[in-house]
Amino acid sequence: MIRRTRRLRRSTALRDSLAETRLHAEALIQPHFIVEGHGLEAQIDAMPGISRTSVDRLVERVRKDLDLGLSNVLLFGLPQHKDGQGSAATTNDGLVPRAVRALRDAFAERLTIITDVCLCAYTDHGHCGVLHEGHVVNDDTLPILSAMAAAHARAGADIVAPSDMMDGRVAHMRGVLDQSGFKETAILSYSTKFASGFYGPFREAADCAPKSGDRRSYQMDPRNGREAVLESLIDEEEGADMLMVKPALAYLDVIAALRARTLLPIAAYNVSGEYSMVKAAAQRGWIDEARVVREVLWGLTRAGADLLITYHGREALGKGWLA
Ligand code: PBG
Repeated sequence: MIRRTRRLRRSTALRDSLAETRLHAEALIQPHFIVEGHGLEAQIDAMPGISRTSVDRLVERVRKDLDLGLSNVLLFGLPQHKDGQGSAATTNDGLVPRAVRALRDAFAERLTIITDVCLCAYTDHGHCGVLHEGHVVNDDTLPILSAMAAAHARAGADIVAPSDMMDGRVAHMRGVLDQSGFKETAILSYSTKFASGFYGPFREAADCAPKSGDRRSYQMDPRNGREAVLESLIDEEEGADMLMVKPALAYLDVIAALRARTLLPIAAYNVSGEYSMVKAAAQRGWIDEARVVREVLWGLTRAGADLLITYHGREALGKGWLA
């Protein structure tokens, strides 16, 4: 007897009934790059369709996105002032806190606001922590990151997302948030973040490339799959509410392995370079963008991700690619 698996693939209706993986707008998280000023919306060359916006334009953008069903945002601040300690990161009237307040005022609880917590866009040297003799000093960085998270929580962020890869930052941040009266603010840890070439376009967008050296003393070695799971499990123990694997496409094995070891929600970050590759090939007519975007997001979901941080979200929903 031939096993005829094709029987269940005969019609679209049958295939749709049996699809194991489904995409929905609620799982998508749309990143935003925020700059000082008013009325600003500047396209990012390496990321077609994505721009840096001032707070007023951000609010208008998010209003349209909510109409599409995009209800999760991840905010990155691109401050004008940079110094050795990243001091613009911790002020209560800083760029991100102002953006959070504006979004909260405009959309109340319809919008889930997630903020990136990291110093690299705030330091003049471009590293994710403070430097001493050229080295990123772990424990001196923790209070600054926690103060940054508290400033975001105070402004009304639902979720803070540390992306720095310092050891112990989730526990430290949880402690500071609790002591400051923000017991309800959740932590989405960038728990497994690799030192990756796929961040190239983001570093242009956020102007956060390190001026000297690289991030390999704190971000993970792409060759290590076991350590990748360990990194995330440590953050779970420290009190993270959700975990993340970043980048996504070259690390589907890590998402799947982590899925088998944790009961927490997992986010996959479909990063800038992954987005730009799809965009560039689509612009040349080499691939069918709608199909490829669907496959990418299906792949991340199939691997075990609950939440998908992706720059494709707005266009995919707007053009009905996920339907
Ligand atoms: C900051 C940060 C980076 C990204 C998110 N948060 C850059 C980096 O670590 O160099 C990358 C996001 C993307 O490429 O889309 N630490």
